[in-house]
Amino acid sequence: MGFSAFLTWTAVWVAILHQLHQVTAFPLHAAALNDIPTYSDSTDREWRMQVDAHVKEHLATILRDEAVNRLDKLGKVSDSPEFLQRTFMSPAALRAGQLIRTWMSDAGLFTWIDDMGNVHGRFDGMNSSAPALLIGSHMDTVIDAGRYDGALGVVSAIAAVKALQKSGRLVDYPRPIEIIAFSDEEGVRFQSTFLGSGAIAGTLSPNLLQVKDKRGVTVSAALQKLSFPGTKESLFNLKYEPESVWGYVEVHIEQGPVLESKGLPLGVVDAIAGQTRLRVSMKGSAGHAGTVPMAMRKDPMPAAAQAIVAIEELCIRPQQGGSPATVSRPTANKGGALVCTVGEIASWPGASNVIPGEVTFSVDVRAKDDNVRELAVLNMELSIHEICRNRAIACTIERKNEAKTVECDKELIDRLSVSATAATNELFSLTGVQTTNEEPVPTLSSGAGHDALAMAQLTKVGIMFVRCTGGISHSPEEHVLDDDIWAAGLALHSFLESDLPASFSA
Ligand SMILES: *[C@@H]1O[C@H](CO)[C@@H](O)[C@H](O)[C@H]1NC(C)=O
Ligand SMILES: [Zn+2]
Repeated sequence: MGFSAFLTWTAVWVAILHQLHQVTAFPLHAAALNDIPTYSDSTDREWRMQVDAHVKEHLATILRDEAVNRLDKLGKVSDSPEFLQRTFMSPAALRAGQLIRTWMSDAGLFTWIDDMGNVHGRFDGMNSSAPALLIGSHMDTVIDAGRYDGALGVVSAIAAVKALQKSGRLVDYPRPIEIIAFSDEEGVRFQSTFLGSGAIAGTLSPNLLQVKDKRGVTVSAALQKLSFPGTKESLFNLKYEPESVWGYVEVHIEQGPVLESKGLPLGVVDAIAGQTRLRVSMKGSAGHAGTVPMAMRKDPMPAAAQAIVAIEELCIRPQQGGSPATVSRPTANKGGALVCTVGEIASWPGASNVIPGEVTFSVDVRAKDDNVRELAVLNMELSIHEICRNRAIACTIERKNEAKTVECDKELIDRLSVSATAATNELFSLTGVQTTNEEPVPTLSSGAGHDALAMAQLTKVGIMFVRCTGGISHSPEEHVLDDDIWAAGLALHSFLESDLPASFSA
């Protein structure tokens, strides 16, 4: 062996030994290892404290900087050069899936993509046959979307698990942890939501594979084009057995203004609001706008206007049956987050010089309490029929959609609240925010479904909300503060830590 070869070999051995030492002593992120104080410098306790301080700093890098960076990256993976759009099985959706998969691997997870295009990353922990904790959200988007809806839940889950992995404690987790990035929640392409989580929860309709997109491509064909089996069996096989799952946790942007109005970064969801969707159709007689005298008209448009105002009134003051004739500005109702929306209206024939023959509109009613919603819908139906009778208009009201409230799991609510409180307090002390809020983590109900709605059919669920600017979502204006992304990661990390054996969480 020549001298230079000897040098090379020595270098290799030094590198290997160094590596081994790092792995056994305290497996941290390689880039941050150089400045970790060595054991011989001080006593065991001091050494441990210094390492802890270092780990904290390192945590911030993973939970804040890297997470922010990844959300930026993912926000650029789009099917359109002008705006963000990733729909089920689109080229950008596949690229996003690959990117997420590399991040999962980087967190030390075993990864795979299932037959519905969901991306999974799993770590077995201490007992690979124990029921698994699932953490997830969706990677698809609406058209002209924001970059946090769905993506925040995926990225912060990966960050929290990576932080645990880098501090060497993931191996002590008492059960498997599995992160899932769901392939479809928004339902943009097939007008059918929860394709991803529905497959895992086993709630997909048997006819789903034949549903067509705008171009006439079926779900089955869309899957097969990308070499997925796209068969009924393959999708039904994706269903998880309830015994194999411990619970499901999701981090999601609030998509509403409540947390911002309270000046707080995190909230915990107690229930996903139930929902009724109505289609109201009002038929009168069409006529010439200039020739039919007012007294001889059967105009469904004013009837619709009156009904819509009555619906608003019913939801502002449900306990009074919405009776007062004078309509005031919407104020908070006492009915438990009852909200009603008329978002879609059409008139036939729809010309400025024609009295319409028919007006149809949608009503979306949501509340945390099923009875409150039921009663509101009943009163609405009565009120609409009365308005139509008085105006000699023929009304039909169809119930298009009905979903009961889903309660989140009590234990998960409590544990997420504790973790979110710790994270909020830590964030406030790190960033010097003074707060007088007695309740640092409010409990909210979720007006939107999220993947948790599908997963609730399989297992107990918990949801944590993250403040978003102005409550704006489904828009490129959607924004989450870097520090709030950090708070979400801290909370999820602390949630996982609280499951570790006592000697580690102390
Ligand atoms: C691992 O989990 C399984 C399933 O819950 C349980 O039966 C078994 O006792 C666990 N093993 C250990 C070592 O805790
Ligand atoms: Zn979402």
